[in-house]
Amino acid sequence: MHATARAGINIALVKYWGKRDDAENLPAVGSLSLTLDSPGTTTTVRFDAGLPADRFTLNGQERADRRVFQALDAVRAHAGLALRAQVTSENTVPTASGLASSASGAAALGLAAWAAAGLPTDDLAAQPALVALVRRASGSAPRSLLGGLVELDRDTTAVTQVLAPQAWDLRMVIAVMTHQEKKVKSRPGMTLTRETSPYYAAWVEHHAADLAAARAAIDARDLDALGAAMERSTLRMHACMLAADPPLRYLSGRTLDALDAVEALRADGVSAWATMDAGPHVKVLCHAADAARVHQALIDVVGVSEVLVARPGPGARRVGG
Ligand code: DP6
Repeated sequence: MHATARAGINIALVKYWGKRDDAENLPAVGSLSLTLDSPGTTTTVRFDAGLPADRFTLNGQERADRRVFQALDAVRAHAGLALRAQVTSENTVPTASGLASSASGAAALGLAAWAAAGLPTDDLAAQPALVALVRRASGSAPRSLLGGLVELDRDTTAVTQVLAPQAWDLRMVIAVMTHQEKKVKSRPGMTLTRETSPYYAAWVEHHAADLAAARAAIDARDLDALGAAMERSTLRMHACMLAADPPLRYLSGRTLDALDAVEALRADGVSAWATMDAGPHVKVLCHAADAARVHQALIDVVGVSEVLVARPGPGARRVGG
């Protein structure tokens, strides 16, 4: 009773920030993201009659992570299983730096546990119990169950593939600003924003229009229209966070320098569009043909510690036996 699964991180083009139900981790807004081929997480789950308790190891270090054990409980409840599990994860994402490691981690864990328990893995989006347990671990993670451009619906919380990874030759160029953990994790950050930011209601109210614009731009394969909706969404999210009390600021000076570099690329005729999550890193969406140029422009930003070029990737899948 064991299985190994791999999932790539996903980067939201139209952001999720805020919950309408904390216990079930239901989002206050929908979201639309691109799943990447790497970095990501590979996780093995082994249900074993000899284990007295669940155990979780991440990159060789034993961890007591409540969300991991809750996901295992949900799989056990669904499969009618009592066995404890050994979970072994390898992450190639800088953990907790705001680079979406929780999304690839929760998707890989959910699928590995689901498969190890003998549950069906042919159409992941059609398994609401799997989608729900992955969402409880991390609200952005169900999007990593599917490949390419993926939408998470606010009301049904279902995930749907909008465009397959090979259908549009895009790149996501990621400027990593720091390997330090983020100051405020998403969960308390979302609560603080909802409870204290006077801009929260406006964020939620205008969100559907950004989603619709992004969907239309994808249909038309119009990167400039998609990029404009993407930058609007991230800047509105950060404006809403900055207006919280106390203010929630994930962006650093280097983030703004990178945004200047992206604007300069556009002035030079390169279709390059930026987005930031709950951290200072800048992710730039561009055509494959422009990736080398965008990569160099981000390396030239002083203080950027690493620049990765990622392709659209597949959804979470079983690997090995
Ligand atoms: C800023 O999935 O980390 O990356 O649901 O509280 O676990 P929880 O949050 P998480 O949210 C990440 C939000 C974001 C934007 C996005 O990915 O849509």
